[in-house]
Amino acid sequence: MKATARAHTNIALIKYWGKRDESLILPTNSNLSVTLDGFSTETTVHFREGLKEDSFLLNEQKVEGAALGKIAVFLDKVRALYGKEIYAQVQSVNHVPTAAGLASSASGLAALAAASSKAIGLSLDNMELSRLARQGSGSASRSIYGGFVEWQMGEREDGLDSYAVQIADQSHWDIRIAAVVLSKTVKKVSSREGMRRTVETSPFYAGWLEQTAKDLQEIKQAIIAKDFEKMGSVAEANCLRMHATTLGANPPFTYWQDTTMRVMQTVQNLREQGIPAFFTIDAGPNVKVLYLPEDEAKVKNSLQAMEDVEDIIISKPGSGISYM
Ligand code: PMV
Repeated sequence: MKATARAHTNIALIKYWGKRDESLILPTNSNLSVTLDGFSTETTVHFREGLKEDSFLLNEQKVEGAALGKIAVFLDKVRALYGKEIYAQVQSVNHVPTAAGLASSASGLAALAAASSKAIGLSLDNMELSRLARQGSGSASRSIYGGFVEWQMGEREDGLDSYAVQIADQSHWDIRIAAVVLSKTVKKVSSREGMRRTVETSPFYAGWLEQTAKDLQEIKQAIIAKDFEKMGSVAEANCLRMHATTLGANPPFTYWQDTTMRVMQTVQNLREQGIPAFFTIDAGPNVKVLYLPEDEAKVKNSLQAMEDVEDIIISKPGSGISYM
């Protein structure tokens, strides 16, 4: 009862920002991401008779407390599907450059969903797997697939119709995504807390919801047509609107640092020089820059020349779940 799976992380071009059901993790809006080949998690799950509890090793270090709790709560859902109490040893390796401060919950929970369901003997199709991964971390529902992926919010209260689908695979379009790692980052508001506070208190939230549905339709057309300017400008505007909702929350907050804004300005300067480059930012200070392969040298040089930029990690669209 042992299996190993690998999943890549993803970056949202149309953000998931708000839950309508916190325990099932059902979003308030459909959203879309691109899977990144530069960051992945490989996870082995071994269910064994006689174990009294789950255990978790991350990058060969024993993990306890809240992080182990999250794994155990997720494995409870897998055990419920299987219908028997049996505990597991979980081992994960994050292939995300250390200290990058980049979200690994999408790749982590997607790999855990795939490895644990296979180890316990369930043979889930991608739709079922996406639905399961969603219940670990919303963005993980998208990491089941490679390329460009939409998480369809669904309408049902039980979440059966809330899962991701592939819009175009990783070979569809050769774009680049640079993750700009900043040297000094402060502790952030978790995405869970940030979403909750914004949904409950920000007067800007209604405007965000209204516009994001339009953004999603536009970006899907742009992706299919390989219209880079369109895709980039919709993604950037959608990111700015998501972050604007946090300023209206009570108490207000922002994920941006001064360095975040300087990277945004560098990207805008590149555009003024005629280079199509666009940014997007998740629930943290790091910025991801979208550009075309032929502009790589110019984009990289501009970013590298910046103070407080520690590293630049370049990805292409990556693949979905695989088993080892
Ligand atoms: O799945 P979570 O809980 O890590 O939330 C992700 C939220 C954002 O990264 C801000 C947006 C997104 O769609 O990934």
